[in-house]
Amino acid sequence: MTKLNIVLFGPPGAGKGTQSQFLQEKFELIHLSTGDLLRAEIKAESPLGNEAKELMDRGDLVADSIVVAMIRNKIEAHLDAKGFIFDGFPRTKAQAEALDEMLDGKDEPIVAMLSLEVPEGELVSRLLHRGSEGSRTDDKDEAIIRNRIKEYSQKTAPLKDYYSAQGKFKAVEGVGTRAEITARLVKALG
Ligand code: AP5
Ligand code: MG
Repeated sequence: MTKLNIVLFGPPGAGKGTQSQFLQEKFELIHLSTGDLLRAEIKAESPLGNEAKELMDRGDLVADSIVVAMIRNKIEAHLDAKGFIFDGFPRTKAQAEALDEMLDGKDEPIVAMLSLEVPEGELVSRLLHRGSEGSRTDDKDEAIIRNRIKEYSQKTAPLKDYYSAQGKFKAVEGVGTRAEITARLVKALG
């Protein structure tokens, strides 16, 4: 059976994590968020977590080698999965190429890259709101939020072309109620 491997794409605050929860349940997929995996390493005070913390607190990307190794381990740990939702990964061309290599080797390629499109003003206001509730340290300071968005624009957004060239890129309007956006994503998956 073809696996439903999806890249859920979009800038910081676009709703990748929120929508992953719905898609994970609906299609019985494994949700892999490199941000969540890195925050777990920070919480555990592992050497990797300590190395990543400084970069994440600034809103800079961490090294490709770190996140690629994390994803590789998770894929190997779930060989019988019905599919994966990749959330916040890949974020650079090197990561996208590494992912293709991992999945193509198993003949289980990415079937779609769903890109949540949300204007910058809305992103900043969503993240500042979450920051005011205290859950994520990188949401507290607008300058750090803007740096995360800049990293996205410069290093990550070009992946739209990478997946377009493979015929997999699908833009999805990311403003509206959570349920409306889930319905759009499901429709985009066909
Ligand atoms: P990561 O954890 O991936 O964070 P991010 O990309 O900055 O995005 P967020 O998780 O903040 O947003 P989201 O799109 O998941 O939206 P969410 O559903 O939470 O990465 C953090 C850091 O880790 C990076 O800066 C980097 O340092 C490092 N990193 C991670 N992966 C990496 C990689 N591959 N390579 C290198 N470095 C990496 O929603 C946001 C808020 O909006 C929530 O409060 C939510 O409740 C609200 N919301 C959601 N939907 C709606 C809606 N429809 N209407 C109104 N509000 C909504
Ligand atoms: Mg997230």
